[in-house]
Amino acid sequence: MDNLKNLIIVIFGASGDLTSRKLIPAIFSLKTQNLLPAKFVVIGTGRTGFTLNDFRQKMQESIVKFSEEEFKNEQVTAFLEHLYYLPMDNSSGEDFLRLKDYIREIDEKYGIGGNYIFYMATPPLLYGPIALNLSNAVLTSTSAGFRRVIIEKPFGYDLDSGRKLNRTLHELITEDQIFRIDHYLGKETVQNLLVTRFANGLFEPLWNRNYIDRIEITSAENLGVGDRGGYYDNSGALRDMVQNHLLQMVGLTAMEPPSSLDSNAIRNEVLKVFQSLQPIPEEDVPRQVIRGQYTGSLIRGECVAGYRNEKGVPKDSRTETYVAIKFFINNWRWGGVPFYIRTGKRLPTRVTEIVIHFKPTPHHLFRRDSGKISANQLIIRIQPDEGILLKFDMKEPGAGFNVKNVNMDFHYKDLANVRVPSAYERLLYDVMIGDSTLFSRDDEVETAWKFLEPIQKAWSMYPDIKVFGYPAGTWGPEHANDLIEGDGLTWRYPCKNLADDELYCEL
Ligand code: BG6
Repeated sequence: MDNLKNLIIVIFGASGDLTSRKLIPAIFSLKTQNLLPAKFVVIGTGRTGFTLNDFRQKMQESIVKFSEEEFKNEQVTAFLEHLYYLPMDNSSGEDFLRLKDYIREIDEKYGIGGNYIFYMATPPLLYGPIALNLSNAVLTSTSAGFRRVIIEKPFGYDLDSGRKLNRTLHELITEDQIFRIDHYLGKETVQNLLVTRFANGLFEPLWNRNYIDRIEITSAENLGVGDRGGYYDNSGALRDMVQNHLLQMVGLTAMEPPSSLDSNAIRNEVLKVFQSLQPIPEEDVPRQVIRGQYTGSLIRGECVAGYRNEKGVPKDSRTETYVAIKFFINNWRWGGVPFYIRTGKRLPTRVTEIVIHFKPTPHHLFRRDSGKISANQLIIRIQPDEGILLKFDMKEPGAGFNVKNVNMDFHYKDLANVRVPSAYERLLYDVMIGDSTLFSRDDEVETAWKFLEPIQKAWSMYPDIKVFGYPAGTWGPEHANDLIEGDGLTWRYPCKNLADDELYCEL
């Protein structure tokens, strides 16, 4: 808490969804846990002409609806006193001068001392212009206090635009002022990966090509694109999930032990993993990358619309709502070990997990209940029901040596009788204390785009690379199973398909 200084958080895009659903409830939770500085103010800005009362009332409703914290009404009322609102246009230099005056007035009133965080909860196209206006208004530099800027993904659209965004920002502010949010890094269980790997002597000796057969990472969602069709159709699963969340999980799973917990020590190791990703040549894209798009189906008697019938999505869209990739990491630890990652919308369930498949024993002495040769699996469940599952073989009681695969199951919620904080709480707190460990650095972002570049190019240059349809409620295109080579090997399926195979809907 030593680094926690009095501060003002300015949110651009404060009338939007992110502010109501995530940011304000997270800041409120920090307050109820006494994790905010003694003096703090949040200034919302946006085009909407809210009065101060309108804004406070809207934020009160969002706390009641979205806060995960148990609270008393008095706590909300006291918290709302710290919220302010300034209607403004992000493209107007004059409005930024008004903002500057407004901030100065509030700073003096509360005695803040010049520490400001600027949160861009706006469409990414505005990051550059807002940074420029902040800089022109001399809001990003100071001789007293700190100035930090938070941006949300996507950090560009491809390698070129990612680089351009970094360049634009670097012309105005320094890298250590920039906090790029990848909310997966704020998840407790993602951070716990580091502890599982580097606090236990048991795993590290086995964590390499000698003992690990393959690694599988799944991030499945059961929802469709909902109201975000317009945004999503220009993004797709590769940009929306793989470039950031999935590759960060790969980084933390595959990285070498960092020399310390210093933010750059950890991010340097993740970067090295990204730099070692074996590029997928364009001609191998159809074999190593499977993309899919959900089609309408009947799930438990209910018709679910296909992607092309979602609001804001063109009827002939070829945007992928599912992607599965097989790739290798070219280094001493992982040479030859395939990594399989997949993500998709409208799959049967919401689950994110990392599965470490160990190699089977070199000689099979015992009969198995399933008749199949099994091997140990360590399943790290990122969400929901956060925890770790170890699958291993035991003798079935009775005569002979019949072997059964059993589970050793740890649930994170059993660790302590406390609520697991939301990713935004953790990340906002880290920005306040200036710890950038859990934020993507410029070079990580660019190297991740570089790995995806041949895939993006192949998809745009060769329209005959298929986008496989998969009925909503199923585990994606069956072709994704072809990625996993090996006798009878498939992805791990945490639950069955839900769609009724016989009865596809017209939707
Ligand atoms: C976001 C994506 O970054 O992550 C969304 O833009 C996706 O499309 C979401 O639904 C998934 O996050 P979580 O925390 O629900 O797994």
